[in-house]
Amino acid sequence: MKIIIASDHGGYNLKKEIYDYLSDRFEITDIGTNSAQSCDYPDFAKQVAKAIQNKEYDRGILICGTGIGMAITANRFKGIRAANVSDTFSAKMTRMHNDSNILTLGERVIGVGLAKDIVDIWLKTEFKGGRHQKRIDLIEQ
Ligand code: RB5
Repeated sequence: MKIIIASDHGGYNLKKEIYDYLSDRFEITDIGTNSAQSCDYPDFAKQVAKAIQNKEYDRGILICGTGIGMAITANRFKGIRAANVSDTFSAKMTRMHNDSNILTLGERVIGVGLAKDIVDIWLKTEFKGGRHQKRIDLIEQ
């Protein structure tokens, strides 16, 4: 599984933690930001959304202060299903029911331990298909 990860300054520290956590198990590319200096989250969300749209990567992870701005931006792109997640149940359900292809996290919302659990569950949970595929098709229409 090829993963692309990005953050703004508000998610910079958590991005480093998640990148290090995943890098020995997955092929993961970090496209920035590369410091805690203020920057604009839409720039990073757009790059990740386009990379997933173009099938250059299988999954994307976007981190900002809340995860909300990243999700709002990424979900503007056709075929992108970005889920802003702060609990493990939602991490599982958004894969099983929504086939989410981008996970957004808020560094100012959750701790590192919970973020790692969310990422683990989100990466390993399979989409259930069936009636859920029909609903995803309805989103795209
Ligand atoms: C940056 O201050 C903050 O607005 C951003 O990281 C994010 O939380 C936006 O949704």
